[in-house]
Amino acid sequence: MEGKTIAHSRAVMSQIMLPSQANPNGNVHGGEIMKMMDETSYVAAVRHAHTNIVTAGVDELEFHTPVFVGALVTCRAELVFIGRTSMEAFVTVEAEYPRHEAPPINALTAYFTMVALDDDGVPCEVPPLILTTQEEKERFDRRKAVYVRRKAERKAEREANRKDGT
Ligand SMILES: CC(C)(COP(=O)(O)OP(=O)(O)OC[C@H]1O[C@@H](n2cnc3c(N)ncnc32)[C@H](O)[C@@H]1OP(=O)(O)O)[C@@H](O)C(=O)NCCC(=O)NCCS
Repeated sequence: MEGKTIAHSRAVMSQIMLPSQANPNGNVHGGEIMKMMDETSYVAAVRHAHTNIVTAGVDELEFHTPVFVGALVTCRAELVFIGRTSMEAFVTVEAEYPRHEAPPINALTAYFTMVALDDDGVPCEVPPLILTTQEEKERFDRRKAVYVRRKAERKAEREANRKDGT
């Protein structure tokens, strides 16, 4: 399978935050932004794999600063690690208040794991990720270590549940 670069699938989505997305104090609900992050990750993954894609997990989701109604929220997703059927996107979220002359604020970050499914709904192999810089290679290795650890933890949990009969 032919590999694809990170740039090939990089995705960006922007949206103005409206009162219907916020609490009575004007704070935008976390779920509204997480939905945008999920969609942006989906775009990166589907551009890479060209299959059906589902979200398998979210890692290290952090809300760094509150986001208020009127913010122009921009989500950026890029693939940082590829397993066999899974793809991990690092997603950053910036909030900008266009009525004020101020630089965008780093609001959220997270890693989304997206899985490619074939037409029968079975996880299927995705193209390799072509890494072009030393930074990309180091980040890939760091995320691979997390992937290997999490996979082993899930397996151990499944086996423990099987023994318990749960
Ligand atoms: C994600 C899903 C397809 C995995 O199915 P599965 O039967 O566990 O399949 P596998 O064990 O072969 O795992 C497939 C891949 O998913 C990864 N994966 C499975 N569970 C995961 C989790 N909780 N977090 C991160 N990755 C996960 C595996 O590591 C594997 O990746 P790899 O091939 O690169 O090693 C399945 O759990 C699913 O359909 N979940 C619901 C997805 C969904 O509906 N998302 C929308 C949210 S509402």
